[in-house]
Amino acid sequence: MCDQPPVPSNSRPPRNGSPHLPFGDMKGAPWYGKDILSVRQFSRDDLDYIFGVAHEMREMVERVGTFDLLKGKILANLFYEPSTRTSASFTAAMERLGGSLIPIQEVRYSSVAKGESLPDTIRTLECYADVIVLRHSETGSAKIAADYSKKPVINAGDGVGEHPTQALLDLFTIVEELGRVDGLTVTMVGDLKYGRTVHSLARLLSLYQVRLRFFSPDILKMPDEILLELRNKCIPYEVCSSLEGAVEDTDVLYVTRVQKERFEDPNDYEKVKGAYVITPKTMEVAKPDMIVMHPLPRVGEIAMEVDDDPRAAYFRQMEYGLYVRMALLAMVLGKA
Ligand code: CP
Repeated sequence: MCDQPPVPSNSRPPRNGSPHLPFGDMKGAPWYGKDILSVRQFSRDDLDYIFGVAHEMREMVERVGTFDLLKGKILANLFYEPSTRTSASFTAAMERLGGSLIPIQEVRYSSVAKGESLPDTIRTLECYADVIVLRHSETGSAKIAADYSKKPVINAGDGVGEHPTQALLDLFTIVEELGRVDGLTVTMVGDLKYGRTVHSLARLLSLYQVRLRFFSPDILKMPDEILLELRNKCIPYEVCSSLEGAVEDTDVLYVTRVQKERFEDPNDYEKVKGAYVITPKTMEVAKPDMIVMHPLPRVGEIAMEVDDDPRAAYFRQMEYGLYVRMALLAMVLGKA
């Protein structure tokens, strides 16, 4: 018997006895004031809603470029780990919506370098910003930040835990590119142990009727905790020992980088780096409408010769991230 795990509530208790509602039109906004910490807080209906808003954001950007939905709102972008896409796309999202930004891209130039704790940094930023986007190296840090913050916190990656906004943009990419999720075979390749993007994506995909395949070097297998969740939700999955035979009937080939920075022993990294590379030869056996995705950055696991193949969706995927993050900012600030 497969149980559907309960969906944790993300409802924030009223602050100071009453909800914080600065605008009259916010009362009905379902995501107003909420944190986005884990994909576990989303149902399929939520995803339809988010993707509907993201699709509208895409149309608006294509039509007018920038508009004033979040004029007067301020985002604090607090990054304890390096980032290009997540940080830049949240910045672009806020600016395209007419809002502004406190960028703390490099915490060593902030008071973190003097030893300030995460809770105190969060308490500081909530004085100045309406929403806080946090990337941190510790799993669970986004939840800690949310517990201390009166303003919504969006998890932009917490250690090897989750990267929920990446998973949302990954799923939005699949929907926009292939038009459906049910019935698809998704093959995840690479660092499935430390890869927070694949942890979050596997959990989101388990809301659909999908088939999953996992291929990784032996020491980088998908954690048992995720596999157990999939079994409990009756999601069929295979753990493959080779990519051969795994690509032919795949609809989405989701490739990830081996994350050097996560290894305790550098020798282990040396053993597995370069263990798999997607090349034009891989693409020869793939379906004509398969898509290749990657959260990026890549460090050699997809050959550059694949980039011109129309099935290479990883650069388009980054653009979808802008629309999803615009949708999330508008939602938590009560404007969607
Ligand atoms: N995909 C992703 O999180 O990329 P960055 O590390 O560049 O933000």
